[in-house]
Amino acid sequence: MDMYDLILKKRGGGELDTEEIKFLVENYTQGLIPDYQMAAFCMAVYFQGMSQRETADMALAMASSGMQYDLSSISGTIIDKHSTGGVGDTTTLIVAPLVASCGVPVAKMSGRGLGHTGGTIDKLESIPGFTCELMPDQFIDQVNSIKIGIISQSATIAPADKLLYALRDVTATVDSIPLIASSIMSKKIAAGADGFVLDVKTGNGAFMREREQAVSLAKAMVSIGKEAGKPTVALITDMDQPLGYTIGNALEVKEAIQTLAGEGAWDLTELCLRIGAEMLVLAGHSARPEDAYQVLQEKLSSGAGLDKLRELITRQGGNPAVIDEPSLLPQAAYQTVIRSERSGYVKCIDALKAGRLVMQLGAGRQTKESSVDLSVGIELCQKVGSYVQQDDVLAVVHSNRPISGEYAAALDCFTISQAPPRHRPLIWQKITAEDV
Ligand code: URA
Ligand code: CA
Repeated sequence: MDMYDLILKKRGGGELDTEEIKFLVENYTQGLIPDYQMAAFCMAVYFQGMSQRETADMALAMASSGMQYDLSSISGTIIDKHSTGGVGDTTTLIVAPLVASCGVPVAKMSGRGLGHTGGTIDKLESIPGFTCELMPDQFIDQVNSIKIGIISQSATIAPADKLLYALRDVTATVDSIPLIASSIMSKKIAAGADGFVLDVKTGNGAFMREREQAVSLAKAMVSIGKEAGKPTVALITDMDQPLGYTIGNALEVKEAIQTLAGEGAWDLTELCLRIGAEMLVLAGHSARPEDAYQVLQEKLSSGAGLDKLRELITRQGGNPAVIDEPSLLPQAAYQTVIRSERSGYVKCIDALKAGRLVMQLGAGRQTKESSVDLSVGIELCQKVGSYVQQDDVLAVVHSNRPISGEYAAALDCFTISQAPPRHRPLIWQKITAEDV
């Protein structure tokens, strides 16, 4: 087999077979195919696309390029959730304990934040003592005994994707649906779950700003799950304003605790219940999402979800007292109140701008090696649709230095208008295996 022929075939709109895809992924990972040929191939994919079968083959070949977790010694069906990256997206910290409190195992591998979106591991590490570095055996034992474990994704997962992503990043080939879908799913599949619930964001704070693109990405990923024999559903969800009321690591942990105590923002709570319901159905716990939703609601109101979070924190070395005393979480030195310059309806809260601002305050990484300030962030005091008077508080910025330029940036996240904004649904649609 010759890489030149594969590039030519794809450039002409042809379909590569399974062996051909394996060949290019394996040889590229081993350094036997040079970057310039792989770059040419990615550009051909960018223009010609890939069939569902090719996309699934790509994901599977990349998944087997490195370590693949075997979670078969965990009893029960393991359903993983994945979000394409939201701003203030605290859902894992809420959904994982809720689902585990139903007796369904949650064995989760998460990432750290990069760019304007946060990562679950950074959030958890704001709990004093909490560690996400467990040995595989320890992780499996823990999930078998308390039904929940969250660890940081091994660096040895899907090395082919790491190489390919770095190449795409500098050759203008990141935003190709089959390449994104296979990239995300390769890591998920290597992490060993039996099925997946995908939260595909759309809106100004999302990777896929347009809804049609988000739907195409969701279909491509659901189709990979189907081809791989791992049941997958996707929810297309709104990211036109940050989720919940907070953005920032420690602030989001506090918000997760409040949400599990039944005192969370409506949007965050609803999204968690809907994602959790799909997980319970795929795990075989409930027949219909409506039934699962009710079960999860009961776990919220009984405090069972919060108890499960306490158990997780204790088991992974964290101080469980943060649950009753959130002031034990890292606190920023300064709290600056942002006030509305006029009266009117909150029309928009720009999630992308807010996410970038929180990153500038120190909560995000510019590069993989940078360390993060766990205490900084933004607390929103209004959501889209609220009516505010001039001088009402819109948000509180938590920082470790006095803010000036950031004040204007924080104010700029909000658009205030005289007319009430048009309602946007939180969940636009669901994509299942029947839709692909
Ligand atoms: N996230 C990924 O993991 N891969 C992509 O290609 C794009 C976003
Ligand atoms: Ca199992």
